[in-house]
Amino acid sequence: MMDYYIGLMSGTSLDGADGVLVVFEGDKLRVLAAATEAFSDAFHAELLALNTPTDNELHRAALAGNQIAAVYAKVVAALLAQAAKQDISPLDIKAIGAHGQTVRHQPQRSSNEPAGAGYTLQLNNPALLAELTGITVAADFRSRDVAAGGQGAPLVPAFHQGVFGREDATVCVLNLGGISNLSVLPKAAASPVLGFDCGPGNALMDAWCRQHTGQPYDAGGAWAASGKLLPALLDSLLAEPYFSQPIPKSTGRDLFSLDWLASKLQLFAGERPEDIQNTLAEFTARACILGVEAYGKGSGSLIVCGGGAFNSHLLARLQAGLPSLRVSTSDQHGLPPLQVEAAAFAWLARQLVLGRPGNLPSVTGARGLRVLGALYPA
Ligand SMILES: Nc1ncnc2c1ncn2[C@@H]1O[C@H](COP(=O)(O)OP(=O)(O)O)[C@@H](O)[C@H]1O
Ligand SMILES: [Mg+2]
Repeated sequence: MMDYYIGLMSGTSLDGADGVLVVFEGDKLRVLAAATEAFSDAFHAELLALNTPTDNELHRAALAGNQIAAVYAKVVAALLAQAAKQDISPLDIKAIGAHGQTVRHQPQRSSNEPAGAGYTLQLNNPALLAELTGITVAADFRSRDVAAGGQGAPLVPAFHQGVFGREDATVCVLNLGGISNLSVLPKAAASPVLGFDCGPGNALMDAWCRQHTGQPYDAGGAWAASGKLLPALLDSLLAEPYFSQPIPKSTGRDLFSLDWLASKLQLFAGERPEDIQNTLAEFTARACILGVEAYGKGSGSLIVCGGGAFNSHLLARLQAGLPSLRVSTSDQHGLPPLQVEAAAFAWLARQLVLGRPGNLPSVTGARGLRVLGALYPA
C-alpha cells in the first residue's frame, strides 16, 4: 500500500495556490503531479486588503476562506486528473495538507505580553475543502506551535532537512516567497537545524512593479536590472530593527506592509521607479545575505526555492553578496522551486496523520515538539 498525500501552499506573495501530489516510500517523498491556480486580480486585492484592518472584515474573511477552499479544490482536481493517468484514485490519498492564507501573523505581540497572547491567522475553510474533494484535510498547522510559545514559523526547515540536508556539508536553503525564510541544515546533524524569516521576499518588489508597470511581478528581475541603486534608500530600509533581532523570529506583511514601504519612500518621491525597484531588489537580497552571514556560517551552498528563484537579477545579487557560497536553485537538487513549499505541507499532513511532531523547537522557539494541525475527515 502506497502512502499518497497532497500538499497545498499559498503564501504571502498572494499570487495563487501551488499543489503537489506526492508518494512516500518510507520517509522519502516523490512528486507525482504538480499544479498551480492563479488568484484573480480581485481576489489578490481582497487578500491584500484583509491584511490590514478594514470594514466588515470578519464577514469578508469568512468569504475569503470559502474562496481559498474553492481555489484549492481546483488545484486538487488538476492533481487528481494527473493521478488518474497513473492509476491513483482519490481514495488512495490519505490527506490534503492545506496551508490557508496568512492575513495576520503576530506570534509574540510584544515582549511584555503574557504567554498565550500571540496568534497567527490563516484564512481557510478546511471543512468546505473536505466536502468539495471527499478527501481528509489537514489544516491550521501553525497555531499549536504558537500556543507552545513558538513563532509558528517557519515550519518548512524540518522538511528542507529531509530533502536537501547532507552528511558531509552544511547547506542553506532560502525560500523566496512573499516573505523570505532561511533554513540552515548542519552537516551530519551535528548541531540543531536553524530557520527563521529573513525579511521581505517578493512582496515589496511585486507591489512596486504592479503599481508602476501593471505586471504582477518583475519577470526575471529585468526591470530592476534596468535601474540603479539608491544607497540612501537602501540604508533607510535596512535600518528596520527586525534585521538585528536574534532568532527565533518570524515576520509577515504585518511589518513589511505597503504602508511601511510608503513611509520609507516619502523622501524619495522624485526618483525613477526603476531605480526604486533596483533598490528594493538589493534590499531583498541584503536581508537574505544578513541572515546567511549571521547564522549560515560554515555553509558552502545556498539552495534557492520559491517563485523568487525565477528572478535571475535577484539571484545574481545574492551570489555577488555571498562570494564564498555556491548559489543554485532547488530544481538542481531534485525539486522545482514552486513544488518545495507545497511538498512541505504534504509532509506536514503526513506527520499529523501519523501522530508525529511537525515543528522544530530549535527553529520556532516552541517549548517542545508538537503534533501540528487539525484533521477534517473525508
Ligand atoms: N519569472 C519570474 N521572475 C521573477 N519573479 C517571479 C517569476 N515567477 C514567479 N516570480 C515571483 O514568485 C512569486 C510567487 O512565489 P511563491 O513561491 O508562490 O510565493 P508565496 O509562497 O509567497 O506565494 C511571484 O509573486 C513573483 O514575485
Ligand atoms: Mg505562491
